[in-house]
Amino acid sequence: MSDVTITPTTDGPLEVSGEVRIEAPDGTLIRETSKAYLCRCGYSKAKPFCDGSHKREGWTEASE
Ligand code: FES
Repeated sequence: MSDVTITPTTDGPLEVSGEVRIEAPDGTLIRETSKAYLCRCGYSKAKPFCDGSHKREGWTEASE
């Protein structure tokens, strides 16, 4: 069982809880953290993290 939990928030980012290492495609470390919010709408200017753009764009789970 993993110590990491990923929870989709309602009409928002994926909440990642647990000790995680987030890497770029080339393996470069972006961040080590115990909590992160990852964009799933595609509008963030700070990918892979959510920057709140989903609200401005009116993105909802139904629009996936
Ligand atoms: S989910 Fe928040 S900016 Fe994409």
